[in-house]
Amino acid sequence: MADLVQLMKQEVGKAAASRVKSNSILGLGTGSTTAFAIQYIGERLAKGEITNIVGVPTSFGAEVLAKKYGIPLTTLDAVDHIDLAIDGADEVDPQKNLIKGGGAAHTREKVVDSLADFFIVVVDGNKVVEKLGSTFLLPVEVIPMALAPVTRHLEKLGGKPELRMGIKKAGPVVTDQGNLVIDVKFDSIENPAELESTINNIPGVLDNGLFVAVADLILVGEIKDGQATVREF
Ligand code: 5RP
Repeated sequence: MADLVQLMKQEVGKAAASRVKSNSILGLGTGSTTAFAIQYIGERLAKGEITNIVGVPTSFGAEVLAKKYGIPLTTLDAVDHIDLAIDGADEVDPQKNLIKGGGAAHTREKVVDSLADFFIVVVDGNKVVEKLGSTFLLPVEVIPMALAPVTRHLEKLGGKPELRMGIKKAGPVVTDQGNLVIDVKFDSIENPAELESTINNIPGVLDNGLFVAVADLILVGEIKDGQATVREF
């Protein structure tokens, strides 16, 4: 099963990378699926299939990968638009709304992905849900001194919040901005746009992982008869 998931991620990452055109400013997403896209973009650049590409990374992790695969990088101070962003997601609903933040990078991801003229989301088939919140907790980035009041506020909204803890690191996960992440279980997210802005209005919250009406195209990796295929919606 783990191998099949890897295969889906790989195919969908390759499919997204194949849509990159020369002379583009790219938003480079975060996570294991986007990692394949970054790898294939780097390989296409190295082969000369595409030229004059520059990337804006959505995290330190994306920056490290882009450097590894030879993709030149820039910042939002130096460019006035992004042509194409490619990023993963933790859940996708039929309206193309997303939950992101499994890698604690959703704040920067939302900045970059929202700026893009075209935003492609790359997911394996397990990420497609009827309703957001069905399988994944909603990540909320919070400044450390506001952890207690934000946690209480999220409980009042009907959520079950838990501070995200590090793996192979003692203590909580610390974001690229030096903040904390609260993962919140909501039994059902009926109105993602309303919940996104309600949570973002809590003092001390930087941003949450709901991405509403940001994605243009979803590429879904699937396995059919043992073969990885890519479906679009
Ligand atoms: C990071 C993200 C990732 O894009 C999301 O968690 C999907 O990751 P993966 O491709 O590893 O499943 O939002 O903050």
